[in-house]
Amino acid sequence: MSSKKSELHIRGSDLKKFYNLGETVVKALDGVNIEINKGEMVIVVGPSGSGKSTLINMLGGVDRPDEGEVVINSEKLHEMSDRELTKFRRAKVGFVFQFYSLIPTLTALENIEMAAELVDLKGEELHRQCTEVLEAVGLKGRENSYPSQLSGGERQRVALARALAKHPEIIIVDEPTGQLDQATGIEMVELIRDTSKKLNSSVILVTHDQNLLQFADKVVRMDSGSIMVDE
Ligand SMILES: Nc1ncnc2c1ncn2[C@@H]1O[C@H](COP(=O)(O)OP(=O)(O)OP(=O)(O)O)[C@@H](O)[C@H]1O
Ligand SMILES: [Mg+2]
Repeated sequence: MSSKKSELHIRGSDLKKFYNLGETVVKALDGVNIEINKGEMVIVVGPSGSGKSTLINMLGGVDRPDEGEVVINSEKLHEMSDRELTKFRRAKVGFVFQFYSLIPTLTALENIEMAAELVDLKGEELHRQCTEVLEAVGLKGRENSYPSQLSGGERQRVALARALAKHPEIIIVDEPTGQLDQATGIEMVELIRDTSKKLNSSVILVTHDQNLLQFADKVVRMDSGSIMVDE
C-alpha cells in the first residue's frame, strides 16, 4: 500500500435529523453521506437553514442523528453513551461556534486555559501550550484582556485559540468570519488551515463567504438537508 494513500478519518452515513413542529416536520438532515480524510479541510456552504450546523454538530458528537452513523477512526459515535460521547469530544474535537461564547469574567489566556484543562494539561505545560496558541493567533500582549476589551475579530481569534489549545484531531468551525471584514476573515481561515496542517487535524468549516472556498481541499454544498455537490 502506498504511504501516500489518504486515510479515512470521519464518515457520516445516511444521516437524518428531523424536528417535529406540530403540523410540520423540518428535515434538517435528510440522508447525508460524507467522508473526510485525515488532515483534510472541508468547507460546507449552503443557504441559511440548509442543515450546515446540524451536520457539523453530528460529526463533532455534539448531537446525535435520528438515523445513520458517524464513525471517526474506528469509533462509532452513534453507539456511544452520553458520557462516552462527552469524553470523546473533549479529547478529540475543538469547536469554534457560530456565536462564540467566551466567558466574560475570564481573561483571553484564562479562556484558552480553561478549555485545555479539560484534557488534563496542567501547570507549566498548560501555560506554555496556551500561550503558544494565543501568540499563534496574533494576540501576544493581550493575554490579560477581558473579552469586553477585545474587538469582534480578536474575540473570534481567542475562540479559535481556545479550540486549538488542546491540539485536537478534529477542528470544527461554524461561520468563523461572520463579523469580520474580508481581509481578517481570510487571515482567520489561513490560520486555521496552517495550524491544522501542522497538527495533521481534519477541519470542517461552515461559511457563507465564497472567497474562502479557495482554501478547501473539498467543498460540500448543502440545500434543504441534503448535500448537492460533493467536489
Ligand atoms: N432544535 C431545533 N428545533 C427545531 N428546528 C430546528 C432545530 N435546530 C435546527 N432546526 C431547523 O433545522 C434546519 C437546519 O438548521 P441549521 O441550523 O442546521 O441550518 P444552517 O444551515 O446552519 O443555517 P444558518 O446558515 O442560518 O446557520 C432549519 O430549518 C432549522 O430551523
Ligand atoms: Mg448554522
